[in-house]
Amino acid sequence: MKETQPIALFDSGMGGLTVLKALADRLPGEDMIYLGDTARLPYGTKGRETIIRYTLKAARKLLENGVKMLVIACNTATATALPALREHFAGLPILGVVEPGALAAARASRNGRIVVIATEATIAGGAYQEAVARIRPEAVVLGRACTLFVPLAEEGWMDGPLVEGIARRYLEDIFTPPAARPDTLLLGCTHFPPLQQALRQVVGTRVRIVDSAATTAERVQQELASRSLLRESASPGRRRFLTTDNPARFIRTGSLFLGRALKDAEVELVDL
Ligand code: DGL
Repeated sequence: MKETQPIALFDSGMGGLTVLKALADRLPGEDMIYLGDTARLPYGTKGRETIIRYTLKAARKLLENGVKMLVIACNTATATALPALREHFAGLPILGVVEPGALAAARASRNGRIVVIATEATIAGGAYQEAVARIRPEAVVLGRACTLFVPLAEEGWMDGPLVEGIARRYLEDIFTPPAARPDTLLLGCTHFPPLQQALRQVVGTRVRIVDSAATTAERVQQELASRSLLRESASPGRRRFLTTDNPARFIRTGSLFLGRALKDAEVELVDL
């Protein structure tokens, strides 16, 4: 492995761009290649075996590009397929977003009452509950699947009364006083950070809303540094975006997730 090789990032769709953004802010000189499996999205409502099969295929595609590290920028794929990935691609550093997300929530919470919202598959697997328990055993973690947030975000509907109404339906019972209110909302799906404004309207101003993007970027940096694989370059790294369906749509909505306009030349259609 050489430091000049790119870092690969994978998500079922565009959500992982929120992780790429944090990583590019922290390590601007690194080359990055991103794959969004938009043809098969959503992963979060699919069965375990299917998620593992799709994720392994996507990883194989990314590895064709001679990458030095694989970041699974998808909670569903991390929660379900991380052991299978590490078994199949032994020797390659592979990081997921669940441990960093759990760390962000454990750090943020004062009263140890944390709500994690994610896809059905992530919640059903209990990965977040286990990850938080490893860091803060006394914490109480309540999980809730918020399936509709994924298509809303992929549609570019990030705020407004409709999104708030759906968020209210999913979360109101948890955040209504006088129950012992959680003080931290963990966005356990990389599609959710753009919906933050709408979520804020529902949970109120006192709840901390955290996600895994910044802590994942921190972990990637630590991991690369420990292997002497950090690229020290003054010039900005190259970015490539692969999508398995409809590049025009990827450019349109992906730009919202990334916070900058994607260029045609950066996005390629690939088959897995
Ligand atoms: N972005 C994925 C995650 O973090 C979920 C989207 C999907 O259901 O495919 O869990």
